[in-house]
Amino acid sequence: MILLLTSDPRDDPDAADAGTADWLAHLERAMPEETIHTVWTHYDPADIDIAVIVQPPPGSLAHLPNLVWIHSLWAGVETILADETIPPDIPIVRLQDPHMADTIAEAAAMHVLALHRKMPGYRALQDQHIWRDLGYTETSETRIGILGLGLMGSAAARVLAMLGFQAMGWSRNAKAIENVESFTGDGGLADMVSKSDILVNLLPLTPQTRGILNRELFAMLPPKANVVNLGRGPHLDDDDLLEALDSGRVGHAALDVFQEEPLPGDHPFWDHPSITITPHVAAPTGRLTGSRIVAANVRRYRADGNIPEAVDRRLSY
Ligand code: NAP
Ligand code: GLV
Repeated sequence: MILLLTSDPRDDPDAADAGTADWLAHLERAMPEETIHTVWTHYDPADIDIAVIVQPPPGSLAHLPNLVWIHSLWAGVETILADETIPPDIPIVRLQDPHMADTIAEAAAMHVLALHRKMPGYRALQDQHIWRDLGYTETSETRIGILGLGLMGSAAARVLAMLGFQAMGWSRNAKAIENVESFTGDGGLADMVSKSDILVNLLPLTPQTRGILNRELFAMLPPKANVVNLGRGPHLDDDDLLEALDSGRVGHAALDVFQEEPLPGDHPFWDHPSITITPHVAAPTGRLTGSRIVAANVRRYRADGNIPEAVDRRLSY
């Protein structure tokens, strides 16, 4: 039997309950043959073999003695990996949804185009009733560096290349993506970052990538380059970003994810003229596509006992 546990930190409690109900409806429609329990139903914990989850608080799965595997409804699984009550031999399957990749590519394109076309500058001029041309750089002369070329980053890179930008991407292993230059290793990171007019982060949060958007990296960027963080809040050193913006080293930052979510009301990012904030909405999981992918994975497991490809705990992604 399946236990569905959703507790999305972006939502308030009422919205989280509505989210659980909506996920339940979608999952039941996608796999009517399964019994799916939630916090609202009575079940014997010993009957649960699969947990389908969205960021539940640590320890939420500790009462399940016969849990075999976990399916995350999010792409990023760092909070699940950090839950020490989950035995390390329980496979964690993350959602790999091409529809979500399209959605994040749309968000990346939206932020890149807004920065490329100087929308923050025009907004500031509009506020002062000033008519001024801020100039235009050809798309073909504008270089976009993407940190992470996985499902999300490669989709973003393809769309940005299609829009005519010079697209570059950094990953652990070299990639062959049409019209996207591939970089790897520390040298590759420095090389790509030093050429990035706009840097988009789509890395998973791991011990190796935590804090990667820091003073040293900002110092490698071309002056006034822009930064877009769609990965995770802890990729970014908040103080280093504020310093880089105030010194003019970074021109503008578009941030979708934060160290603490919701972003506290007194955080200096809110009122900074060179920061655009969105509340972790770059790519919400599509309930229809997500539930169908989970159902297909569960069905395959019921049929042949094979658990879908799991996150590599040694790499933390
Ligand atoms: P993925 O398919 O696992 O891809 C991860 C990419 O990062 C891969 O290209 C990987 O390289 C690269 N990478 C990992 N560690 C690295 C390192 N130490 N050095 C260089 N490259 C490294 O993950 P994904 O599905 O694209 O998702 C990425 C992240 O996007 C998620 O973890 C999540 O944090 C974020 N996300 C955010 C939202 C949102 O709404 N803001 C929505 C969905 C996802 P290799 O390809 O060589 O393995
Ligand atoms: C959302 O941020 C996800 O990781 O799916």
